[in-house]
Amino acid sequence: MNHFARREGALHVEDVALSAIAGDVGTPAYVYSKAALEGHWRAFDDALTGIDHLVCYAVKANSNLAVLGVLADLGSGFDVVSRGELERVVAAGGDPAAVVFSGVGKQRAEMERALELGIHYFNVESEAELARLAEVARTHGVTAPVAVRVNPDVDANTHPYISTGLKHNKFGISHSDTLRIYQQAADTVGLEVAGIACHIGSQLTEVTPFVDALDRLLSLTDELSTRGISMRHLDIGGGLGIRYRDEEPPSAGAYVDAIRARLAGRRLSLHMEPGRSIAGNAGLLLVGVEYVKPGDGKNFVVVDGAMNDYIRPALYQAWCEIENVQHRSTPTRLYDIVGPVCESADFLGKDRHLSVEPGDLLVVHSAGAYGFGMASNYNSRPRAAEVMVSGSDFRVVRPREEMAELFASEQLWVTAR
Ligand code: LLP
Repeated sequence: MNHFARREGALHVEDVALSAIAGDVGTPAYVYSKAALEGHWRAFDDALTGIDHLVCYAVKANSNLAVLGVLADLGSGFDVVSRGELERVVAAGGDPAAVVFSGVGKQRAEMERALELGIHYFNVESEAELARLAEVARTHGVTAPVAVRVNPDVDANTHPYISTGLKHNKFGISHSDTLRIYQQAADTVGLEVAGIACHIGSQLTEVTPFVDALDRLLSLTDELSTRGISMRHLDIGGGLGIRYRDEEPPSAGAYVDAIRARLAGRRLSLHMEPGRSIAGNAGLLLVGVEYVKPGDGKNFVVVDGAMNDYIRPALYQAWCEIENVQHRSTPTRLYDIVGPVCESADFLGKDRHLSVEPGDLLVVHSAGAYGFGMASNYNSRPRAAEVMVSGSDFRVVRPREEMAELFASEQLWVTAR
């Protein structure tokens, strides 16, 4: 179901007109559909029916408490990569026992807090981390459940910045070191082998790399079992892509169908860590048009949202659909949609056909993932408001930052006289 549809020419999120949200909350604002979030999570959970599984939403994609709370209510697990994300999950009512902790740089205090909360397991990414985790667990008289994040050296065929499963990437433990490190984990007091994990990249639009990675993990699992080391979980990571333009990523159902047979007869619980495929197309960025600026060979629409609000176009040359909230029947012109930040990389879209006037509202679609979470205060711009819609109801789930908040905690250097 499309939760972002036009009614009499005006774009709505569920049953709420975006113009009503802009009137109430102002722009720029991120707007999320609760029904879309729920639908995207359920697509994974339903597809996995018949397989012992846990869908662990990747918090980094969108960590707003309301988003986490909606997913916690559905019974979601969570993939976190920092203590901050872990605390958010707890604050949103998520179950710490359904949290997996990934990331190459886990600090001692992060391990301590995760052990105190009793998380599901740690996805360990290096030998040094394994040793540190064992020592922290022993110090606290507990046992840390671990999975080794294997770097399966599989090409995800995605943007190099978001490809993580190749051997030159910093992530995971190389395939050839895996058996030795598992033996070490099994022999170390303070550690308990719980599973095996990988995450090969983000915005994947084909299933083959997932299947290849799974095969590598399964053959490692078999080899480990002959050595008496058995797994309870196999965590295949996140990474399923979404449609921004004309991509045709597999559905959650098609993805699961492609791997289901390989898990038959195995006593493994399958864990997935989808982020973008749950949050991405559940949200958009709503911006207001300040100026329409004709140029020499280029026309610009200057909007009040910028690269500090949504950095994906500048950072990854990402393409997102941009539309006028209110359909105009006047002829379109070709524009670059740019923000007020003082950088030429500050664009939300290039070479777009739009019919637009100052004062109009535009939306940047598919911005529910890696949008607000990657926003900054660059150019001393307060971060945007976040709004969640459910049916005909909408609520501000994070108010726009106040000017005073920008530097409230900063100090002048006062010279004593
Ligand atoms: N699990 C791990 C260990 C991850 O590192 C990631 C994403 C995920 C799960 C979720 O992946 P997803 O299902 O969302 O593809 N900022 C970039 C994306 C970075 C992804 C980093 N890791 C972007 O805007 O495209």
